[in-house]
Amino acid sequence: MHDDIAAVKSELMKRFETLEVKRDVLRAAELRQLYAGMKDLPAGQRPAYGQAINELKQELESMVAEAEAAAESAQAAPIDVTAPYDVNVPADKRPRLLDTRLGGVHPLMTELDRVLDIFYRMGFTAVESRQLDDDYHMFGSLNFPEGHPARDDYDTFMTVETDRSGKQLIAPAHTSTMQNRVLRQFGPNLRQGQPIAVLLPGRVFRNEDLDARHEHTFHQFEGVYVDRAIHAGNLLATFKTFLSEYYQQDIEIKSQPFYFPFTEPSFELALSCPFCQKKGCNVCSYAGWIELLGMGMIHPNVLRMAGIDPTVYTGFAWGCGLERLVMMKYSIEDIRHFTAGKLEFLRQFV
Ligand code: DAH
Repeated sequence: MHDDIAAVKSELMKRFETLEVKRDVLRAAELRQLYAGMKDLPAGQRPAYGQAINELKQELESMVAEAEAAAESAQAAPIDVTAPYDVNVPADKRPRLLDTRLGGVHPLMTELDRVLDIFYRMGFTAVESRQLDDDYHMFGSLNFPEGHPARDDYDTFMTVETDRSGKQLIAPAHTSTMQNRVLRQFGPNLRQGQPIAVLLPGRVFRNEDLDARHEHTFHQFEGVYVDRAIHAGNLLATFKTFLSEYYQQDIEIKSQPFYFPFTEPSFELALSCPFCQKKGCNVCSYAGWIELLGMGMIHPNVLRMAGIDPTVYTGFAWGCGLERLVMMKYSIEDIRHFTAGKLEFLRQFV
């Protein structure tokens, strides 16, 4: 290499280390002087000389680029503000993602998944209910005549908004609001020999006096099943199978007559207490049996209003409170625990 270029090179290498802005090395006066000196050389030597300066310049440029990239990545060290731990904490010292201090799945949703899983295995599909609905789906489509006192049983919250016909919209008091919709949606498949088998989980609202067993907001899961020649025995067997799966023990059931406008006949179902096996305990108030839910054979008018011929098809339905089912499973004494946000309660289920 030319001596003068070699001298500039070693000078600039040294200076490079000390420069705060590395790019300044490319603007060094020495480099400019080397280029300027070319014109004093005999023409024949200029190309080789020029190439040697270019090589030095390229070497400096790549050193600058490398230094800048390193500085940038040091600056942009990954800071994930959503990370639940300091990224510098070694992997084995990081908290587990389901650490109870950081949150987990709410017990009602875990249990709803278990309920759904059992019904999926029985061939049901699931459709979630709405949290705002109209008078027709809350009452009319379920065979509650206009002005009938049975409407009063549902302690329904009305809103100030109205639907197209001028009726007030409703915070639904039961998941039965979905019956007409799924009967219409799946009804046409009946002719292809496919039964309607739908589970309808959802949040429901009632203007209740609150106590250990009553909340204004809770969950139900409705079941709807329709096919040819379906009878109440199918209903009881289906629900008994579900209960035995859910509680992982053989559960006995007892039905007694009841009244719902949308079923005929209607039943209230009680199950043998899963805590004392009918011996009597404080969960079942020493009765051995616990009243759990309403059910029945879908009223012909309800089928007809959804376009299904009740002389050809019959079906059953139930509406079961999720909280009560779960309270019995875990011996939870107060329904308000579910929404109180008390971590001592919730942590037991993570
Ligand atoms: N909707 C009723 C309630 O919330 C429960 C119910 C009873 C649902 C009978 C049904 C049924 O589908 O057939 O009180």
